[in-house]
Amino acid sequence: MHLRQFQAQRMQAPRDFQAIENQPVCVEIGAGKGKHAVLFGQQQPQSKLYAIERTREKFEAMQKQHQLSNLNNLFPIHADALPWITHALYPAQVEQFFILYPNPEPHNPAQRWLNMPFFEFILSRLQFEGQITLASNIPEYIEEAEQQLKEIWKLPYEKQVIASDSARTHFEVKYLERGELCQQLIIRKPADYTTRFDDFMPLLGQSHAG
Ligand SMILES: C[S@@+](CC[C@H](N)C(=O)[O-])C[C@H]1O[C@@H](n2cnc3c(N)ncnc32)[C@H](O)[C@@H]1O
Repeated sequence: MHLRQFQAQRMQAPRDFQAIENQPVCVEIGAGKGKHAVLFGQQQPQSKLYAIERTREKFEAMQKQHQLSNLNNLFPIHADALPWITHALYPAQVEQFFILYPNPEPHNPAQRWLNMPFFEFILSRLQFEGQITLASNIPEYIEEAEQQLKEIWKLPYEKQVIASDSARTHFEVKYLERGELCQQLIIRKPADYTTRFDDFMPLLGQSHAG
């Protein structure tokens, strides 16, 4: 399978976009109501987490949890992850990405994260030896992602079964209560890994129409 190149320069700025500093950060994509984001913020006080959620009600639930938690290292972002990442993040800035229980996109396989040309851009934002955690309750989703890691992205990974008492996200709790098998891939970016976006600087709210 051949993937087209992601058209980074065509991404419109997210509404009310605010730039961030070029310091090491962690990023959660599709953070839902923010359960994992708050837990991570509490357990990793020295790390900064940007938690992106595009659905308003879920984002607002995350914001509420964030306010109650008093965490100053968690930054909830109401945006689509593609334009936000393209506009905000610097090459090799991200220590870890989390993609936990993404929508399975049964009718739209091209919208699954590892099938998208955008995944190359995500990889360009990741530090060397940084990692991406991808969790799913759908064995075929994990298998397809493994296939893409081997054939397209050529990245090392470890596959893990998630413990039945894990409770990092609302969806994880729901799936494990139903007795479903939840698995995750811990994907690592080796020190010599290159992408076509390694020199692409964030658009910082500017739009390059055309
Ligand atoms: C199945 S839910 C999982 C939510 C949460 N991670 C959990 O495990 O409870 C997937 C979430 O990803 C969000 N999402 C999907 N595509 C997104 C995108 N491009 N940018 C930001 N959020 C996205 C959806 O709005 C939804 O809340």
